[in-house]
Amino acid sequence: MEPQGERQTEPGPTPEAVDAYLADTLVGEDQALREGKRAAAAAGLPAIEVSPGQGKLLMMLARLAGARRILEIGTLGGYSTTWLAQALPPDGELVTCEFEPRHARVARANLDAAGVGGLVTIRPGAALETLARLRAEGAAPFDLAFIDADKENSANYVSAALELVRPGGLIVLDNVVRRGTVLRPGDPDTVEGRDVNGTRAALELLGSDPRVDATAVQTTGAKGWDGFALAVVRG
Ligand code: SAH
Ligand code: DHB
Ligand code: MG
Repeated sequence: MEPQGERQTEPGPTPEAVDAYLADTLVGEDQALREGKRAAAAAGLPAIEVSPGQGKLLMMLARLAGARRILEIGTLGGYSTTWLAQALPPDGELVTCEFEPRHARVARANLDAAGVGGLVTIRPGAALETLARLRAEGAAPFDLAFIDADKENSANYVSAALELVRPGGLIVLDNVVRRGTVLRPGDPDTVEGRDVNGTRAALELLGSDPRVDATAVQTTGAKGWDGFALAVVRG
């Protein structure tokens, strides 16, 4: 019999370790992005931004979409915003909606420090109101929308995005799996339950609305078990 506990081997691979390897090997997160996360943490913002690999995926999708105008719902410290803005041409624009003034201030400083501040308009306040205002203003169509705010309102954000994104454009919805909690309706008396119900309503809308083709990809790694929904507005 093998003596137990003598050969202390390295821990086996984990999704987190693989994510770190892939990020180191492929992603090339730059100094400004890293510094922005440090500044956000120092200001007490929660570390719930997308992972480096996910941020780069957003940038690549925006490039594939030929994006000149990007809409983001949920800025936090501007991490995903910075990745997305890097896909824009010099005359492009990214409009990002943020409810918390403190988050918006941290994001503004981070975006300026990253050299993309001139491309980004932060719209303060509740995103539902901002989206209604954008429609009323007759804002030019967006090529891509990234929805990543209060999940309770996700279906309302998808509805608005369907009006604001051009045919052929892309809608990306974050956090659609949340460790599998999406599988069952949530308790409407809790925030978590309402979040799940908002995500489920958003997915049901994307799955049934004739204006889009939609799918979702589950993810694992630095941000745990989660996923993105992706929808292309039909031409
Ligand atoms: N997209 C960011 C993370 C966003 S976290 C990244 O990956 O880097 C979600 C953000 O949505 C938080 O900053 C939160 O303050 C904001 N938020 C929550 N409810 C909102 C609302 N009703 N309107 C606008 N922003 C909201
Ligand atoms: C969390 C992650 C997110 O991407 C988000 O938008 C909100 C919350 C989280 O890990 O709690
Ligand atoms: Mg998110």
